[in-house]
This record gives sequence, structure tokens and C-alpha cells, in this order.
Amino acid sequence: MRRYLFANVSASVLFLAVVLLLEWPLLLLLLVGARRKGRRDDPYDLLRRVRIVPAFPPPPERMRNEIPMNPKIVIRNETSADVGAIGEVTIAAFRTLEISNHTEQFIIDALRAAKALTVSLVAEVDYGRLVGHVAFSPVVMSDGTPSWYGLGPVSVLPEHQRNGIGYALIKKGLSRLKELNARGCCLVGHPEYYRKFGFENIPGLVHEGVPQEVFFALSFDGHYPQGEVTFHEGFKANGNQEGAGDAFSAALGRSKSGSLSK
Ligand SMILES: CC(C)(COP(=O)(O)OP(=O)(O)OC[C@H]1O[C@@H](n2cnc3c(N)ncnc32)[C@H](O)[C@@H]1OP(=O)(O)O)[C@@H](O)C(=O)NCCC(=O)NCCS
Repeated sequence: MRRYLFANVSASVLFLAVVLLLEWPLLLLLLVGARRKGRRDDPYDLLRRVRIVPAFPPPPERMRNEIPMNPKIVIRNETSADVGAIGEVTIAAFRTLEISNHTEQFIIDALRAAKALTVSLVAEVDYGRLVGHVAFSPVVMSDGTPSWYGLGPVSVLPEHQRNGIGYALIKKGLSRLKELNARGCCLVGHPEYYRKFGFENIPGLVHEGVPQEVFFALSFDGHYPQGEVTFHEGFKANGNQEGAGDAFSAALGRSKSGSLSK
């Protein structure tokens, strides 16, 4: 019995010694890999570092989850296939914004339903991932000045912010409005962000209930309306009501249509 036990233990020790001798590089790699926080979910990283896998491009699925350093940004009109993704981007962008009522996704849907999304642009990075959106819709000026539009909501996915995507969306949107013979654009927004596009606080042009320092306007023809601006009814949407936009459309009656072709 003793001899049998001794033989078994010896065989196990011998086996462990052989495993350690032959497989120690693998064990070392596993240990190093486990210590690398933040990359644990990346089997390719460890293999690439020890050159077991050379610099082959990783599989497409992995690339879709990465944020490219210099993504190729494409700004284009929304299509019906983008509707869901626009909602997701909008929710994500406004999620942590304290001043938000978190109704922006409903506003976009209401504007679309009322055919008041005059310009609706999306930002797409490599491989077709939608990361940003901006909407422009008609507004009513109390002094009767026609063809002015409101900018917003504008959203960029948090992990893609501060890469110039918001800037590109707004720039393109403004030039699209000019192509449509718009006379100007206004918005409620952060005092620091919109001046770079030429937006200014205009004395005598107000949005009821909004502090003057966060209400901005940009004229395309040099003329600034006076009085009060009314944004589309769709801005009241909170996910509960339907038919937003009817009253606004009536107010907009003198303008041929609430929506210009994109
Ligand atoms: C506002 C927003 C659309 C800007 O898009 P973006 O792609 O991050 O902006 P850009 O990269 O073009 O410009 C970045 C610059 O804008 C300024 N900026 C960006 N977000 C800002 C904010 N919330 N407040 C003030 N300035 C801001 C900064 O000066 C920044 O420059 P910096 O990187 O040197 O600091 C984006 O931050 C966003 O989706 N925010 C949440 C939703 C929101 O606030 N929408 C606007 C209200 S309708």
C-alpha cells in the first residue's frame, strides 16, 4: 500500500514538474494578463504583446466597440433607418445633464411626426456607427419675420464628445439652412459654446421664460427680428401627448409649410 502511495505521489510530482518546465511561459502570460486592469476583456492584446499574433487587424466586431483616435466623421441627412439610433444617442447625451428634462428624444420624434424636422443631420464614424445628431425646426417670430429656424436638440455620445463632432454637425446644419434660403437661426444653449458659430444675444429678441444670456440668434441676412420667438409645439413633447405641432402649424400659417425639403 505504502509503495503504491509513494508511486502515485512521485508520479504527480513528476507530472507537475514537467508541466511547470514546459508550460511556465503560458502560466506567466496568464498571470501578467490577469494583472492588466482594463484590458482583461481583450484576448488579442496579450497575444499581440508577446507577438504570438502579429499586427493583424482585429476582427470587425472588436473594432466596432472601439473609439478610433481619428475617426472619419461623416455628416449626412437622417434616414428612416436612423430613427432608433438618433433616440439612443440623444438619451445618452442628455442623461447626465442636470438642466435637462430628458424629453429631448420625444421632441425630435414630435418634430418628425409634425414634418417640422427641417434639417436633421447625423454624425457617423467609421463602420457606420451613429454618434451624433442635430435638429433644426421652424420658429415663429412675433414681428412676422419669416424663415427663421430653431437649433436643437443637438447631441453627441459622451465618449465621442470634444472631438469636434458637435461643431461639424452645427456648421453643416447652418449651411444647409442657408441653402434652403433661411434668414436666421436661434437657440437656447450654453453661453460659452455657440459664439464660435457667430450666435449672439440680441437685445430685443427674447424667448419667454429663458434668460437672455442663454438665448442666441444668428442672422444670415443681417436683419434681426425683434420681439418674441416661439419654438415649435414639438418642444413640449414629453412622451405622453400626440399631435404636437398642430397649434404651431396654424401659427405658422403664413409660411407655406413647417418643413422645407432636406
Ligand atoms: C454640446 C455637444 C453637442 C457638443 O458636442 P462636442 O462634439 O462635444 O463639441 P465639440 O467637440 O465640437 O466642441 C468641444 C468644445 O465645445 C465646448 N463645449 C463642449 N460641450 C460643452 C458644454 N456642455 N458646455 C460648454 N462648452 C462645451 C468646449 O469648449 C469644447 O472645447 P474643449 O474641448 O477645448 O474644452 C455635446 O457636448 C453634447 O452632446 N452635450 C450633451 C447634450 C447637450 O448639452 N446639448 C446641447 C444643448 S441642446
